[in-house]
Amino acid sequence: MAERILIFDTTLRDGEQSPGCSMNLEEKLKVAAQLEALGVDIIEAGFAIASEGDFEAVQAVARQAQRVIVASLARANRADIERAAQALKPARRPRIHTFIATSPLHMRVKLGKSPEEVLEAIRESVTLARNLCDDVEWSAEDATRSDRDFLARAVETAIRAGARTINLPDTVGYATPETYGALFRDMMNRVPNADLAVFSTHCHNDLGLAVANTLAAVMAGARQVESTVNGIGERAGNAAVEEIAMALRVRHDVLPFTTGIVSTEIMRTSRLVSAVTGMHVQPNKAIVGANAFAHESGIHQDGMLKDSQTYEIMTPESVGQSQSTLVLGKHSGRAAFRDKLESLGYRLSDNEFQDAFQRFKALADAKKHVYDEDIVALVDDEVMRGHDRIEVAEVEVYCGTGGKARAIVTLRVDGEERMAATKGSGPVDALFRAVRQIVPHEEATLLRYEVAAVTAGTDAQAEVSVVLGEAGRTARGVGAHTDTLVASARAYVNALNKLLLKRGRAALAA
Ligand code: KIV
Ligand code: ZN
Repeated sequence: MAERILIFDTTLRDGEQSPGCSMNLEEKLKVAAQLEALGVDIIEAGFAIASEGDFEAVQAVARQAQRVIVASLARANRADIERAAQALKPARRPRIHTFIATSPLHMRVKLGKSPEEVLEAIRESVTLARNLCDDVEWSAEDATRSDRDFLARAVETAIRAGARTINLPDTVGYATPETYGALFRDMMNRVPNADLAVFSTHCHNDLGLAVANTLAAVMAGARQVESTVNGIGERAGNAAVEEIAMALRVRHDVLPFTTGIVSTEIMRTSRLVSAVTGMHVQPNKAIVGANAFAHESGIHQDGMLKDSQTYEIMTPESVGQSQSTLVLGKHSGRAAFRDKLESLGYRLSDNEFQDAFQRFKALADAKKHVYDEDIVALVDDEVMRGHDRIEVAEVEVYCGTGGKARAIVTLRVDGEERMAATKGSGPVDALFRAVRQIVPHEEATLLRYEVAAVTAGTDAQAEVSVVLGEAGRTARGVGAHTDTLVASARAYVNALNKLLLKRGRAALAA
């Protein structure tokens, strides 16, 4: 029988560390529920001591989780570990994940500790964690740049203190498949108590090798893999769960392992994570990109018509991608809309459905044909907005060759309407100045403004993405509408909501 690989999902922790990717509590709970439906084994819900918000998120995910293990990250100190244990209290199956750096560079520069002091910290931290929780994972941060003899002593120490999962992260994405596989083989051979622990991979994608390295470690004996949806994460991201799961499935002949991943839930999960983080999936991204199953050249199309296996090693249906394109019009009713949402992989609450249906009707009035892509943009826009405290109520913009552009904007701030009229060097400038006048946020700067057409045609919806930055924090917002300027206002205000949430509620008082 093929051996089972445990999937440890860190979308809510390492994934959330991507610039601009932060999620609020409601969004994290949605993602956690979908991760359970996807079939992951462990959800790392956050870093409990990092902030009040992280603590609440770990606690809420721990409360909600049905089947999965819920983990919280903790550094090797008492305060972190106790905070993690406290947040995990409601969990049916809690895990404390504690870590410390083991590479010479990190120990010297970051920790200011000698190797012996680090060994002592491992002993103490894992022992404390085990006193508070039966399930303890220990990670050797920067394992791939650590001295092998020292790493072996560190792993042995962690296992002796009670860790039952040993993670060897490629923190800086430095490994290659051969070296990463060899590291696992070496540790599993030379650490005397290695058989008491499950070895785990955790790969960053700085050289684009995260998935390849993960699979090499699995071949070498790792039985847990740490990954994120769409590969989001610090810098170039983490290994993408959808790529690992499908590689194990499609190439079962050479990778004879199974996972609990329900592959038909992959697209649904990818879309949700993309919607709540505002982090678009690149079109040519493996498995979940818009072009992953598109065939452009005549030769390929001809082959596909004769037999799809000529150019497809897996079907779009196997990863939950729907096939139809042309959809609904203004005469389509609730049932057809609901059907379409389901085929696209969305499960909306009653309220969300009503809001989405109203917006669909407005869209169908403005646009002759509504395509799958339109529905995806519309629903993602709705999901992204959640319960934003600031909403766009009305937008009017005057622009052209006749002089300065002018914008009149009405926002609803905590239910109360506020209006501003401003001029700008162009329509977008005027629009964003009006928002700034209503909700001052002088410290924040616009880092990115992107517009994409959701479909072809001059009546297409515009999908706008905005990134705001302030004091090292970034927040990303999206907006979709047939009017590019309305979409821009929605995206900007969505990003602003997220930024204020990060900054604390005080800013709204202005
Ligand atoms: O990349 C890394 O080393 C980590 C650890 C904290 C597990 O994310
Ligand atoms: Zn990491």
